[in-house]
Amino acid sequence: MKRKYIYLLVPALAICMVLFVRSAKPAKDTDIEVLLSRMTLEEKVGQMTNLTLSTIAREEENNLILEIPKVKDAIIAHNIGSFQNVVSHAYSVETWHTIINQIQDVSMKETRMKIPFLYCIDAVHGANYSLNSTLFPHNLALGATRNPELVKKCAEITAKEVRASGIRYNFSPVLDVGRQPLWPRFAETFGEDVYLTKVMGVASIKGYEGSDLKSINSVASCMKHYVGYSVPDNGKDRASANIPEIALREYFLPSFKAAIDAKAHTLMVNSAEVNGVPVHASKYLLSDVLRGELGYKGVVISDWEDVKKMHERHRVAESYKEAVRLSVEAGIDMCIVPMDFKFYEYLIELVKEGKISEDRINQSVRRILELKKELGLFEKPYVEKEALKNFGLAEYKTVALDAARESVTLLKNTNQTLPIAKSKKVFVIGPGSVSLTALNGAWSYTWQGKESKYFPQGERTIASAIRSEIGDDNFLYYKDFDFRDSTFNVEEIRKATETADYIVLCLGEDAYAETPGNIKDLNLPAAQMRLAKGVCWAGKLNKAPVILVLTSGRPRIIRELEPEVSAILFAYWPGSQGASAVGDILFGDYNPNGKLPFTYPKFPGDINTYDHKQLDEAVEETVPEYKYYYKFDPQWEFGYGLSYTTFEYSNLTVSPDKLTATGSVKVSVTVKNTGKLAGKESVELYARDLYASVTPSVKRLRAFKKINLEPGTSQVVEFQLTKDDLAFVGQNMKWITEAGEFEVMVGGLKGKLNYNDK
Ligand code: BGC
Repeated sequence: MKRKYIYLLVPALAICMVLFVRSAKPAKDTDIEVLLSRMTLEEKVGQMTNLTLSTIAREEENNLILEIPKVKDAIIAHNIGSFQNVVSHAYSVETWHTIINQIQDVSMKETRMKIPFLYCIDAVHGANYSLNSTLFPHNLALGATRNPELVKKCAEITAKEVRASGIRYNFSPVLDVGRQPLWPRFAETFGEDVYLTKVMGVASIKGYEGSDLKSINSVASCMKHYVGYSVPDNGKDRASANIPEIALREYFLPSFKAAIDAKAHTLMVNSAEVNGVPVHASKYLLSDVLRGELGYKGVVISDWEDVKKMHERHRVAESYKEAVRLSVEAGIDMCIVPMDFKFYEYLIELVKEGKISEDRINQSVRRILELKKELGLFEKPYVEKEALKNFGLAEYKTVALDAARESVTLLKNTNQTLPIAKSKKVFVIGPGSVSLTALNGAWSYTWQGKESKYFPQGERTIASAIRSEIGDDNFLYYKDFDFRDSTFNVEEIRKATETADYIVLCLGEDAYAETPGNIKDLNLPAAQMRLAKGVCWAGKLNKAPVILVLTSGRPRIIRELEPEVSAILFAYWPGSQGASAVGDILFGDYNPNGKLPFTYPKFPGDINTYDHKQLDEAVEETVPEYKYYYKFDPQWEFGYGLSYTTFEYSNLTVSPDKLTATGSVKVSVTVKNTGKLAGKESVELYARDLYASVTPSVKRLRAFKKINLEPGTSQVVEFQLTKDDLAFVGQNMKWITEAGEFEVMVGGLKGKLNYNDK
């Protein structure tokens, strides 16, 4: 009898315990394991599901209206744990606060577990989805600054303005290395160099995350897009890439590894495919490499609709449901679905059918809850009112101006055409001169960044910045241009430039983001080339030198235009203070110091990076019958950028000149400002392996330091190199530094060192 009772008692107790732990207890207890043990499968899968705002809100006459029945359906009926981005454009901070608090009210008051929801945003160059926020230069421009401290400051301000908007998770920074300039997201990268991307990426992550995600100064960052997104074979967005494993490891994994070591909390997956496998389906990349080798512990989030696309576009899954299975098995934790509940429904079915284990679900939910906990959402789920004081401070503009000034890159300055004296008459022309959108590029108050009506009042264009530098009387103008319509009358231009001392011609690219920015030709568009020819003709007749100012998200070929102009400024997408920075540089209020973060191609069919292999450097045949010659011949190489002053490099020493496995060598060089103006200079150390078992690059950037020198003064700049700084991925896919000779190069000087691991 006794035994019988015990048999009855045990299951009864178990049922009671389950009922108890699954009872409607608030999620105040932030012990993740306890929380997990109380959650139903549906509640767990809801945490893994991310929807876009338009599933629960609509816009009417520019007002955002939250549709409460839809919010309840998402959060209560479908347990959705996170939402993201905007319906179509940026909102005021007040609007953000209202909607976030309203959504959170449903999570906190009307759900069984009371787990706070998480809002996510793309704030990729400032809090670009909050009206009146400060927009900074895009990453490509930041790469040109060679100033990681400044990059960190931009990210810190972005974090403050995002958090002040009530949002705690930012899908930034892009850590893809920009080695294919056709790619329409080139401007979102820090450029083509691995080391530069590592340094700037880490600076950005530190700026976003600070030391405590609970702080009102911080947001969670997102390393994206893991991995191999930036080098599609056809140069298009979300297209296939074939990247040999050795190249993947040498060029594309290191920025993620550095960010993981810097404790970045989340990671977004590449939308496209690498070597025939969509990255969302790659257990090898998402689990074995990312978690196994790189030691990543944080949240892995899919990109937009990419699970579904494994069925619809990539065709590796015969059904959407199978795509869900593949992606979760591969390693994603959260899916930006983002339009419906399909991912949620299929994943629940898959677990119930035993095709995915609940343990696997627990792993992901644990990471997501941990993130929410670290962000302080359990303690303070609602908008933190005290964060509002961090929005829109005047000093942010100074940082944006510093960043734009330090990025703008002077590529040509024949006979010191620049700077222009402010007493001169300047004629300004070209679509870039009157465009705010071409200064700010992608992700600027709208996704595509093309609608200037959302921009803060009173922002300067290049034309208005020039006008304020020289005054109305010296400012000459013909008419407004548009990137789509550059019609002009060349005779009218000739007339309008008759009294001009200088012509500033502003060309380049208007804003675009992602796939809509695909192009088939890297040449500067024909309409702009026609305008440029007309302007240069008028300039010649009227003896007014032409200064070309390019605002652009990627290099557009200007080989034929370059000889016709006297000076060239490449301004990237320099952000809200970009026009002022250009004005300051044109008229000598600021001495330019940006250095190209990419190799500027001369021909659309001749694209290569500065760190190419020896084979691609030059080839010559002198036998008369077969004579030929080819050499690496870009318009300008990575690292190029002029100043209004001159710097002289001397005394390069390498000491000791023998490097051991545990030691380091000091490379030092003296840099002198030999001109008449104070100036900043990025001192860059390149190295090359003279012989190696995998063909060495002609050179690789291994370190840089930016210095500021008054005229006539000099500074000794020192770098420490260890064997890791000289390592490469060997034939066995492992990092190695091989014994032998290396050359180090700084500012045209060369030194040698010998590495021996003994
Ligand atoms: C982009 C991501 C972005 C995501 C969420 C995607 O289209 O590829 O970079 O973070 O949308 O908006």
